[in-house]
Amino acid sequence: MANGILKGKKGIIFGALDNKSIAWKVAEFAHKEGAEIVLTNAPIALRMGTINELAEKTNSIVIPADATSMEDLTNLYEKSMEHLGGKIDFVLHSIGMSVNVRKGKAYYEQNYDWTQKGMDVSAMSFHKVIRAAWDLDALNEGGSIVGLSYIAAQRVFHSYNDMADNKALLESIARSFGYHYGLRRKVRINTISQSPTLTTAGSGISGFDGFYKFSDDLSPLGNASAEDCAQYCVFLFSDYTKKVTMQNLFHDGGFSFMGMSEEAMAIYMKDFRKEE
Ligand SMILES: NC(=O)c1ccc[n+]([C@@H]2O[C@H](COP(=O)([O-])OP(=O)(O)OC[C@H]3O[C@@H](n4cnc5c(N)ncnc54)[C@H](O)[C@@H]3O)[C@@H](O)[C@H]2O)c1
Repeated sequence: MANGILKGKKGIIFGALDNKSIAWKVAEFAHKEGAEIVLTNAPIALRMGTINELAEKTNSIVIPADATSMEDLTNLYEKSMEHLGGKIDFVLHSIGMSVNVRKGKAYYEQNYDWTQKGMDVSAMSFHKVIRAAWDLDALNEGGSIVGLSYIAAQRVFHSYNDMADNKALLESIARSFGYHYGLRRKVRINTISQSPTLTTAGSGISGFDGFYKFSDDLSPLGNASAEDCAQYCVFLFSDYTKKVTMQNLFHDGGFSFMGMSEEAMAIYMKDFRKEE
């Protein structure tokens, strides 16, 4: 289904760990749509993951960068512009991690050093990724930056823990920096609030299967997959969304506007009959 809507565009994609990662699918789809890309991830993830396979498939190079380090990010943009032969048109921030979640600490008993670390990786890194581009004037006018969020930024999801606060900050950064970057350099910044998706980060959340099934049952279109998300990202990188900025865009099969579905009624009412 490729239409070449990213032909001539250059991008940087953060966060492809393995072939389940949302960023992996975005890289594949952006390449299919004609973009030239650079892949990046934290040095430790590069050792553990299978990103070289993706680099080969998408004819791209991999430049390591810890997204919490301004030094790494500056190096990444400089090398990417050198490799791609010019400024960048789009950036995907597909990064998330909570130490409290990993170590099973509940929201009300957080270890604040871990909270800080998770916030730095999951949210402040978005500010830094944008800021490093801003400082180097590395993005073309009309450029597009996308971060990935989750609806726990607005509503409570049991066991999503401090990631909920990280996502709220991530979405706020998209609005605040979106204003400044839009005003001065016509660059768009948005977040996509994605359905639960079966990936390494996703399944690290305890009770993930419950989230997944619940939202799938509630959404008229069902959960959006990583491939669906990749298509939405590419649309946001393209010139078809030139005036969309500072938004948190729900990409969740309708989940965010649902109250009660037929599927859920059948679970809670013994004598409920679904319509044919
Ligand atoms: N999977 C879901 O259910 C779901 C739902 C909504 C939003 N999201 C968001 O999508 C994004 C991508 O997650 P995913 O589900 O594809 O999982 P994933 O585990 O494949 O990706 C997370 C990535 O973050 C990278 N990362 C961690 N620390 C980093 C650092 N210091 N510097 C650079 N990169 C670092 C990891 O190496 C990994 O590639 C995250 O922001 C996640 O919160 C996921």
